[in-house]
Amino acid sequence: MPSVSVTSPTAAIRADAVVIGIRRTKDGPRPAPGAEPVEAALGQRLGQALRALEAKGKPEEIVKIPTLGLADYPLVLGVGLGEDPADGEAARRAAGVALRALTGSRRVHLALDAPAGALVEGALLGAYAFSPYKSRPAKRELRAITLAAPASARAEVRRAVIVAEAVALTRDLVNTPPNDLYPQTFAERVRALAEERGLTVEVLDERALKRGKFGGILGVGQGSVHLPRLVRISYRPAKPKAHVALVGKGITYDSGGLNLKTANLTWMKSDMGGAAAVIASTFALAALKVPVSVTVTVPMAENLPSATSYRPSDILTMRSGRTVEVTDTDAEGRLILADAITRAAEDAPDRLIEVSTLTGAQMVALGTRVIGAMGEPEWRDAVVSAADAAGEGAWAMPLPAHLRRDLDSPVADLVNVPSERFGGMLVAGRFLQEFVPDHLPWVHLDIAGPAYNNGGPRDYTPKGGTGAGVRTLITAVEQLAAG
Ligand code: BES
Ligand code: MN
Ligand code: ZN
Repeated sequence: MPSVSVTSPTAAIRADAVVIGIRRTKDGPRPAPGAEPVEAALGQRLGQALRALEAKGKPEEIVKIPTLGLADYPLVLGVGLGEDPADGEAARRAAGVALRALTGSRRVHLALDAPAGALVEGALLGAYAFSPYKSRPAKRELRAITLAAPASARAEVRRAVIVAEAVALTRDLVNTPPNDLYPQTFAERVRALAEERGLTVEVLDERALKRGKFGGILGVGQGSVHLPRLVRISYRPAKPKAHVALVGKGITYDSGGLNLKTANLTWMKSDMGGAAAVIASTFALAALKVPVSVTVTVPMAENLPSATSYRPSDILTMRSGRTVEVTDTDAEGRLILADAITRAAEDAPDRLIEVSTLTGAQMVALGTRVIGAMGEPEWRDAVVSAADAAGEGAWAMPLPAHLRRDLDSPVADLVNVPSERFGGMLVAGRFLQEFVPDHLPWVHLDIAGPAYNNGGPRDYTPKGGTGAGVRTLITAVEQLAAG
């Protein structure tokens, strides 16, 4: 992570590049508020330069203007802001676009009048790169981001850095290939990170899982030489206002198992995106000292076909004591999550948030950028509004009562997949509900599409792991703390 510092508006700008906004107006492109020091250095010629470059001021647009010795910095980067004022999300996106275009700069100054926290968040998220597997990493690396803001902006800037670190950690974990990140290594890496932060960690290995009767996790994980784990992390502030349980799907690789997938197989390293998101968010909540107790419960398993795999028609006895007939080994997420939800609920938390890359149907319904939210209506809506506030899209989806009958099995208490094909996102949510105690407000966030960007980079979102869910989780828990 580059360093981030707030400078006074009158201080000299020391940077390799200065970012300004371009507003779209009926009279053509205009430098956005915040660019005044740059205007002064360039003799009020910015408007002229923008017209000459035929800038429009559209989002995702960038123009580069060399300063030819007129300023202390060699380059001005103009980024389109669109027509609306640069509110939180527009500022975040513009800063992300700008930093993605400045990969060769060591020091970048943001000269935009916009909420400082949003600018810093967008800039850090846009500057993200995953390079541990490149044998020749980039020579130049971003070292520092500066921005002029009043001292009162320091707290939101600090929060933005912590949030961006959590998103980056989530992206790193998702981007790490499954030959290196499997249940055991994932658990040990998380243990080390949690202990560094003074958090309590507990890792259940296959023997402990057997003793604990985690039949769902063991069944899904038995086909891999990398046996499953259950990781629990707790954060306990001095005077907690509430206790939130976080659960995340940690399938380190999902081949489908004996119901082997036929498409999107490289995408399935992202199937632990929910686990990564709840873990990284908890680290952020602890760093921010949010006065809410958090207990994370993350089941980790690898879903592979082999001579030891669980089979379609196997019946698993879950931790809750209920039995599940496995009709499809590719619906593995709900099986490991059911056990994790049962365990999480045993602590009697006040609320539960579960995050998972659960269904392809999420993408059919909502596309790749909007999280599907299901659960207890009031808490679900609170979490959806936290997502909006955080700049992540989420949408409330129903769990109609009629879905329950389709989950009946002729030989066990439930099937994991009914024969009815439609409404797959809701069916998965309804299955999870069977493992949530009646009076616990819970929400299930299906991030199947949002967790991983298969398209080109955009705004502050790189290719690969996106960190979906992190900003929503942090904001939802903060809002709970604020009452
Ligand atoms: N991990 C997948 C869901 C998924 C698909 C995430 C594509 C990201 C991109 C999940 O385990 C799965 O395979 N779900 C099945 C469920 C089906 C068998 C009922 C699906 O969606 O096809
Ligand atoms: Mn699957
Ligand atoms: Zn899966």
